[in-house]
Amino acid sequence: MEIFHISAECYPMAKVGGLADVVGALPKYQTNAGHQVRVVVPCYDTKFKNENNFECVHWGTVKLGNFDFPFSVLKETTDKLGYELYLIEIKELFDRPNIYGYEDDIERFFSFQIATLDWITARKTVPDVINCHDHHTGLIPFLVKYAYKYEKLRPVRTVITIHNGLYQGWFGFDQLHYLPEFDLIHVGFLEWNNSLNSLAVGVKCAHAVTTVSPSYLNEINIAANGLESLFNSVRDKSRGILNGIDFEVWNPAKDQMITENYAIDTLEIGKQKNKEKLCEQFDLDPEKPLFSFIGRLFEEKGGDLLPQASALALSENFENINILILGSGNAQIEEQLLQLRNDYNGNYNVFIGYNEELAHLIYAGSEYILMPSRVEPCGLNQMYALRYGAVPIVRRTGGLRDTVIDFGDNGNGICHDQASVGDICYSINRAVKLYDDKISFNAIRKTGMAIDHSWERVCQEYIEVYNLIIEKNEV
Ligand code: GLC
Repeated sequence: MEIFHISAECYPMAKVGGLADVVGALPKYQTNAGHQVRVVVPCYDTKFKNENNFECVHWGTVKLGNFDFPFSVLKETTDKLGYELYLIEIKELFDRPNIYGYEDDIERFFSFQIATLDWITARKTVPDVINCHDHHTGLIPFLVKYAYKYEKLRPVRTVITIHNGLYQGWFGFDQLHYLPEFDLIHVGFLEWNNSLNSLAVGVKCAHAVTTVSPSYLNEINIAANGLESLFNSVRDKSRGILNGIDFEVWNPAKDQMITENYAIDTLEIGKQKNKEKLCEQFDLDPEKPLFSFIGRLFEEKGGDLLPQASALALSENFENINILILGSGNAQIEEQLLQLRNDYNGNYNVFIGYNEELAHLIYAGSEYILMPSRVEPCGLNQMYALRYGAVPIVRRTGGLRDTVIDFGDNGNGICHDQASVGDICYSINRAVKLYDDKISFNAIRKTGMAIDHSWERVCQEYIEVYNLIIEKNEV
C-alpha cells in the first residue's frame, strides 16, 4: 500500500511534543511491514535539516490569494530513518527556528498543505492513503475531495489522526480566498461555529478519524473544546488506536544516551548507576527515591500544579525524596519552579528547556515519573517510563487510563483521579511507602518493563483502518 503521512512535526527533523515521536516512528514500522511510506513535513531551520543531505525532487509555486510562494520538495537521501522523508521548503515561511507561534501561522500551514497536494498531484501515481495529523493538516481531506485542481486525487482515501483536539486551527471567512477553488456548494464543510475550523474540516471530510487512544475517543464526545457534537456524529468512522513507542530508540539495553545499559535482570544495579549520574549532575541525593517530570509546562499537562505539589511533597517528606523537573512552557510556572531551588537545595532541581538526551537519562535514573495531566490524548512518557523500569504516577485520563493500572489492582503504576495538588501528594506518599517495600517495588517495575507497547503490534491497526476505507470506497 502507498501511504503518505503529513504532519507539522516528525522526530528527528522537528519536535515539539509527542506528535513528532509518533510521526517519526509509525512510518518506520509500516515500511518494515512492506508498505511504501512517505512522510512530509515543512522545512524548518533545524539541526537535523542542517546536518543532513537532501535532494530537490520537485518545485513549484503556491498561490495563496494574491501571494505567490515558491516552494521545493526536498528528499532526505541517507535512508537512515527507515522511511522516506520529504521536506516542503518555502523559504519565506518556514526557514525559521521555531515550529509554531508566528503571526502568519495560517499562511504557513495553508501553504504547506497546498504545496504538498500540488506535489502529490504532479507525481505519476496517486497514493492509496493520506494520513493527516492534527489541525495543521486538517484542510487536506477537504481539498482532496473538492478542490478542482486536485481532481486526480479523488480516489485517495484520507485519515485524520487526532493527537490533541484542544488545538483546532481557527481562521476567519475572510481567509477563504486562500484556498484553491472548489464548488461553493461544499462550503459548509469548512464552517464550525461561524468560523473556519481546520480540525473540524478534517474530521468532517476524512474517510476515517483516529484518536491516539481508545479512552480519548470517549472523552472527546464530552469535552473537545467545542467539537463534542461533531465527534459524536462521526463515531461510525472513528477509532481509538493506542500509540506505540519506538522500541529501537527507547531501549535501556542499548540506549547510547544513558550512562549504564540494563535489562530486566540487571534493573536494580543499572538504574542505580544512571541515578548516581543524574544526582551528581543535579545535586540530588542518590539514597532517596527520585520523582521526575518531563514535558511541557502547561495546564493541560498539570504543569501549574507542579510547583505547589513539589513544595508540599518536599516539606512533608523532607529527607525522603528528590524531585527533578525537565521542561519548558508557561513562563510563570517556569519561574515558580526555579524559585523552589532556593528552598529545597539538595533534594530538588529543574532544567528549563528541551533536552532529548537528558530525558533518556531521567527515565533510566528515576524511580518514578509524574504525569498529573488534565488532558492526555495518549501520553508517551508513561510508556517510556515503563520500558525503563520507572513507575508512572498518573492522573486517570485519556491514554494514561489505558496504559497505567494502579498497583493496588495488580497493576504497573500509581493512579489518582483529580488534577489536584492533594491527589498528587497522596500518590507520592503511596510511592514512598512502596519504595520501602523493595520486593513489591521491583516486581512492579519488572512487570512494567515487560509490557509490549511496540509499534510493530500497533501499526497493524492503522493498516486495518486503511483497508476498511479502501474497501468501502465511499465518495
Ligand atoms: C500529543 C498529546 C499526547 C500524545 C502525543 C502523540 O502531544 O498531547 O498525549 O501522546 O500527541 O500522539
